[in-house]
Amino acid sequence: MPLDLVVGTQWGDEGKGRIVDLLAAHADHVARYNGGDNAGHTVTAGGRTFQLHLIPSGIIHPHVGCLLGGGMVINPARLLAEIDDLSARGLDVSPARLLVSSAAHILTPAHIARDGVEEGLRPGEGLGTTRRGIGPAYTDKVARRGIRAGAMRDPAAFGRAVEAQTLAAASWVEQAHHRPAPEPAGIAATYAGYAERLRPYLADVGATLARALSAGETVLAEGAQGTLLDLDHGTYPYVTSSHPTVGGALQGLGVGPRHVRRVLGVAKAFQTRVGNGPFPTELHGAEADRLRGTGANPWDEFGTTTGRARRCGWLDGALLAYASRLNGLTELAVTKLDILSGLDPLYIATGYRAGAPDDLGDLASSVPLYADSPGWTEDLRAYRRWEALPPAARRYIERVESLAGVPVRLISVGPEREQIIDREVLA
Ligand code: IMP
Repeated sequence: MPLDLVVGTQWGDEGKGRIVDLLAAHADHVARYNGGDNAGHTVTAGGRTFQLHLIPSGIIHPHVGCLLGGGMVINPARLLAEIDDLSARGLDVSPARLLVSSAAHILTPAHIARDGVEEGLRPGEGLGTTRRGIGPAYTDKVARRGIRAGAMRDPAAFGRAVEAQTLAAASWVEQAHHRPAPEPAGIAATYAGYAERLRPYLADVGATLARALSAGETVLAEGAQGTLLDLDHGTYPYVTSSHPTVGGALQGLGVGPRHVRRVLGVAKAFQTRVGNGPFPTELHGAEADRLRGTGANPWDEFGTTTGRARRCGWLDGALLAYASRLNGLTELAVTKLDILSGLDPLYIATGYRAGAPDDLGDLASSVPLYADSPGWTEDLRAYRRWEALPPAARRYIERVESLAGVPVRLISVGPEREQIIDREVLA
């Protein structure tokens, strides 16, 4: 004991990596439970910047063990590239510090090719996926024809299985849709090689975590994406194909709820979304540009994985309340409060004109009702204490707390590790 869960409460990009990086200082293990390399975060530590898509940001802390859970879909080429990059920069990324669940599914070039074709077949602009093959990899898992990480224990057979899958995808892509297909030649040998290298990392992640929790060690579970992108509970069909929620955490790691101590939701102080789908509080033009930033800074609202400009809007308190209820949050971290400095008044959606839809898939027709809140002009980046914050900034956070029904424990006021206010509400 204990298990602390970190979940995104919006459409991803809430700054979870940053919060996990902070909490990892006091954790023994960080375990990622869903998604694949559609996620991405940038962590800056000791003047060095790391771009991570699969490996949890906990890897930056030398005392932390990292695990990739069975709920994930893993592109082995990408995982090895991350391992090589981190190793080249002096970090220990050996199996002593990184484990991969045998139950995780393997994402292959066949999935990436199918993702692109399926997007093109969808009406209008499609879903706006990251085109990393995520949907097709989970499709194969659910259709019970996926290749699991444990298959890498026999590299030659694994290579042949990936080749067979690639051939099937190639004929579908070329014959049915006349698009260039992945090249199967050499795939068997390449993937057998990946398996040789990744085989030592394979483990039973659920059993490893159970042992750690029984020994009194602290486990931090890190989700990718956010609640509103959950396959079941998000804005379907504009969702990802995994479960970024608390249910997905337990399922994706293979642990029970008995050990859970905290469920920390991460919310940006405003709302962003990348990709298509409903966004009731979306702003356009200069107001959106103001929240987004120009792209000159790494923390501006442009995707880490795809570079796409994120859509920006006012905080949707109704959706935050939904995420709080759905995940059983115990507390919140609010990120990027500093970006709201100079905007007056600030708006937060508190509900919708016709009430909340039964199904978030119907959110597109919802018209938000707003409450306004006074703004402040102070630059918050140097603030470290809750009591010192401008009264209007505290008022804004208190409104967030009352909508979410849980205390805001952490507030980030800048991109650096130390630019955070820890209120220690539950410490
Ligand atoms: P997919 O996960 O690539 O299938 O994309 C499905 C939807 O989820 C798209 O709207 C993506 O933009 C969105 N999405 C996937 N991963 C992330 C993420 O890490 N942050 C934000 N949005 C994401």
